Amino acid sequence: MTDAEADAIIERYAADILASEGMGRERGFVQHGTVSVFEHSCSVARAALRLAARLDADIDVVTLVRGALLHDYFGYDWHLRETAPPHHAFLHPRYAAENAAADFQVEPEVDEVIRRHMFPLVPIPPRSREAWIVCLADKAVATGETYRGIRARLAGALGHAEGCGA
Ligand SMILES: [Fe+2]
Ligand SMILES: [Fe+2]
Repeated sequence: MTDAEADAIIERYAADILASEGMGRERGFVQHGTVSVFEHSCSVARAALRLAARLDADIDVVTLVRGALLHDYFGYDWHLRETAPPHHAFLHPRYAAENAAADFQVEPEVDEVIRRHMFPLVPIPPRSREAWIVCLADKAVATGETYRGIRARLAGALGHAEGCGA
């Protein structure tokens, strides 16, 4: 599945979320490295669609896409200690679920995707295929974003365009 194909599916089922004020604010919040929460959430939605297709999983696409886009809808920059609430890593799935319910019509299946995406750090396992897929897609995307951020900082520190070995 290409990015364009995934984006067309995301746009079809979640145009309201993409165009919302809350998601607009996410463009200004850093998630990992130089990636915004908005970009990260779109990447997780694409990765979740690809993983579901690869597994030929029997899933509800609307739940998968909307849950993936809203999984980090916590609404603050977690790097800013003065304004971010404590224990972000453990509590942000709950904040995201509460904010999503305030701004959108959130089905219980989508709520499940949002609340369970931090398993196993938050030790309540997902109970649906959609929640498992978003949980795994999030780990893969977050790891890539963090790695690229470290690599870019290292390259900057070393005064090269690329990091070690490049
Ligand atoms: Fe998260
Ligand atoms: Fe995430």
